[in-house]
Amino acid sequence: MLKKTFSFSASRTTCYFDASFANIGNLVEKDRSIFITDQHIYDHHKKYFKGLKFIQIPAGESFKVQYIVDQIIDQLISFGADRQTTIIGVGGGVVTDITGYVASIYMRGVPFGFVPTSILGMVDASIGGKNGIDIGNYKNMIGVIRQPGFLFYDVSLLQSLPVEEWVNGYAEVIKHAAIKDASLFHELEKNSIHSYRKNKKALSELIRKNVMIKTAIVKQDEFEGNERRLLNFGHTLGHAVENVYHLPHGHAISIGIKAACLISEEMLNFKETARVTGLLQQYGLPIDIPVDFGKVIEIMRMDKKKTRDIMNYVLLEKLGKAVIKPIPMSHLEKLLYSIARAR
Ligand SMILES: NC(=O)c1ccc[n+]([C@@H]2O[C@H](COP(=O)([O-])OP(=O)(O)OC[C@H]3O[C@@H](n4cnc5c(N)ncnc54)[C@H](O)[C@@H]3O)[C@@H](O)[C@H]2O)c1
Ligand SMILES: [Zn+2]
Repeated sequence: MLKKTFSFSASRTTCYFDASFANIGNLVEKDRSIFITDQHIYDHHKKYFKGLKFIQIPAGESFKVQYIVDQIIDQLISFGADRQTTIIGVGGGVVTDITGYVASIYMRGVPFGFVPTSILGMVDASIGGKNGIDIGNYKNMIGVIRQPGFLFYDVSLLQSLPVEEWVNGYAEVIKHAAIKDASLFHELEKNSIHSYRKNKKALSELIRKNVMIKTAIVKQDEFEGNERRLLNFGHTLGHAVENVYHLPHGHAISIGIKAACLISEEMLNFKETARVTGLLQQYGLPIDIPVDFGKVIEIMRMDKKKTRDIMNYVLLEKLGKAVIKPIPMSHLEKLLYSIARAR
């Protein structure tokens, strides 16, 4: 097991790589820990929860909401949880987001850690301290920034993850490679979901590299002034597409990444769009759906990353080197329509 500790503004997070969930008792005192998981993870990994105090929530984004928070809090109270209790979220981004949120408000904040179980959870959602819930149609509208005390990475848990969730997670992996790490991009080109799934060592190493990329960005800019915005690569258009067409997140991001590459060609003379779209397809991600840009632009106009009429767009100068460019909305619309016409 490899251990690495990162310092943030107010706290530290220790990452345990190549860890084994079966041995989590060596890290935390079971009597003083309460685990939160969802129904799918519990069904697949029941044996690990024997003898633990745990709370199970239903699986899915629609349960990352306040009434589930209330139910969790009721159960914490019945378990007698106090400030000496550590709350541990074992699951995908839904479980870790809600766990971090509950742990931040219960008794004004108790210690917490995560055991992420999805690719997206491992490389993205568990990292960076953003924890929150949805309200109605507004995703992540309520929340806090508070770093977990530890992150516990056991890639063997991924064996039960449905293949469409692997695909979703790889959209963020490809995003990380595109914005920060050309050699990782090259490694991904030589592999596939199938090859990583069979090779625990390569998978574990891939997860570690992605954790390091996101953590380095968050450490530079914990409260999202500048550097952290790079993580929005593919997400400006992606979120709008997700919103209009109700696509899986990774699919929408993939479409957003392609559009960002095409805008990068136009504005920064970026030359590798074909490699990026090739890689997205290699990992089962779509690069084209008939998008009604009128509707998508309408949603983008409401994007919280927009300041006045300028959209801060993440573009690529080259593979591994992303920059943020302010683009006036009127110009962005022209660019998007010309992309749509060229399709
Ligand atoms: N906090 C952040 O910075 C951040 C960043 C990105 C995403 N997110 C949030 O993360 C969430 C998405 O995360 P996600 O894609 O992991 O979704 P998820 O938690 O809903 O997991 C996806 C599905 O896979 C199942 N699952 C997870 N791990 C499994 C396993 N090992 N075996 C079998 N089934 C498993 C879950 O039960 C669920 O059905 C969204 O709510 C998003 O807002 C947060
Ligand atoms: Zn994303």
